[in-house]
This record gives sequence, structure tokens and C-alpha cells, in this order.
Amino acid sequence: MMLPILKYGNPILQKVCEPVTVFDKTLETLAKNMAETMYAAPGVGLAAPQVGVLKRLIVVDATAGEKQGELITLVNPEIINKEGEQYEEEGCLSIPNFTGKVRRPYRVIVTGKDLQGREKIVEGEALLSRVLSHEIDHLNGVLFIDHLGPIKRDIIKRKIRKKVRAGEW
Ligand code: NI
Repeated sequence: MMLPILKYGNPILQKVCEPVTVFDKTLETLAKNMAETMYAAPGVGLAAPQVGVLKRLIVVDATAGEKQGELITLVNPEIINKEGEQYEEEGCLSIPNFTGKVRRPYRVIVTGKDLQGREKIVEGEALLSRVLSHEIDHLNGVLFIDHLGPIKRDIIKRKIRKKVRAGEW
């Protein structure tokens, strides 16, 4: 089932999410629906708060579904190691049609759990590192525009306010 994606301006997107403690069918269904929503968008990642659920759950596929078996579902993800740096253009399904250059680690090691509560470890380089970092930011109420310089950020915010007024957001 496709879920509606919350847009910038919704206060849920700026809240810190709670860790998942119950690994049940509801969690499984949420993860499945989030993956479906991400692929349909299409996007390379989606975090639970973007569909209005304040839980620490992300889905990521750096190939956007181009390759089979690339879907990563992570519960309570945590970056335990960062290496290097990349500075690339980034967007967000909650801030459609806007992008900005964001500094991210070139490589990350992320721990977390799968949907059954088993420990999981994921290593990501380049785009995958960026997407993992971006989605984990969402769980802490941080959006990519929060990483931009104040001028670029204000330009985007002003344009969004204009769209809100025009009923286009
Ligand atoms: Ni995002």
C-alpha cells in the first residue's frame, strides 16, 4: 500500500523518533508499505517520520529499484563509523523539486536490526553512504536543508512559503 509522504512544513518531520522495541507484523507491514512508497516515488530512501510514524525505521535502495535485492530495511540504525567526505547534490521526497549540496561521509558503517530484531550491519560507500546518512538524519528531525548555508536555505524556504501560499505544496 502506498503511503502519503509528508512535506516540509509538517512539524512531524522535525521531531526525534523513538526506538522500535516491538518487532511485530505491524512493523513488517509499515516497512513493506514504506518500500512500496519509496519505489513508486521514485526515491532511493525513506524514513518512517516521512509517512507520519515517529519510529526509528528506514528503507534504502541506492539503485532506486534498478537492481534486484538492493533493498535495505534498518530498524534503530546507528552510524558507528564514518570515513572520508563527499560533497554532492541531494534531494528529499519531503522537499520535492529542491536540491542542495551537502557534505556527507564517503563511507559509513551502520548497525541496526532487521524486522525480526536480529542485529544487522551495513557498510555503505558513495551514494549508499549519503542515503544512509540522509535517512538516519530524518530519525533525528534533521533535513538536508538544515545542512545548507543560511543563504541557500533561506532561498529554498522562501520558495516553499510561496508555493504554500499558492496552494502548490
Ligand atoms: Ni529525505
